[in-house]
Amino acid sequence: MTGSILILNGPNLNMLGTREPGIYGASTLADIGKLCTESCKKFGYLCDFRQSNHEGELVTWVQAASQTADVKGVIINAGAYTHTSVALHDSLRLLSCPIVEVHLSNPMAREGFRHTSYVAPLAFASICGLGPQGYIVAIEGLAKKLTN
Ligand code: DQA
Repeated sequence: MTGSILILNGPNLNMLGTREPGIYGASTLADIGKLCTESCKKFGYLCDFRQSNHEGELVTWVQAASQTADVKGVIINAGAYTHTSVALHDSLRLLSCPIVEVHLSNPMAREGFRHTSYVAPLAFASICGLGPQGYIVAIEGLAKKLTN
């Protein structure tokens, strides 16, 4: 193993499976976590997969990652905090490792209040609308970037 990939999930993503399945699909967050663990392993990385409903907890985790050399990249689906959180944006600015933004749905094809992302300007890629597959694409993209 060559380090870890931190995968952060924001509010309400713990409800996947029952939350608006027409938009977010039938997979649970545990299903997605399993897929991510397998995919990270394929590239030689440990997967640190987390979810929080609390903005401050996400900020604390990002701060800790910024001080941990073992964290080689961060993938974040910040949920609704994507569209609101300057605090999360500021914490992501602390990271020197690459960041990928992921969304299960495509926020740009939804309500206007989802069209702003405080994460996107800090991410080298944003993957939206691919459902759980988006996390796998993010891991592949991150692994490729880390080998370059
Ligand atoms: C989401 C999109 C956000 O707008 C929303 O608030 C979520 C989920 C997604 O994965 O599609 O909670 O991040």
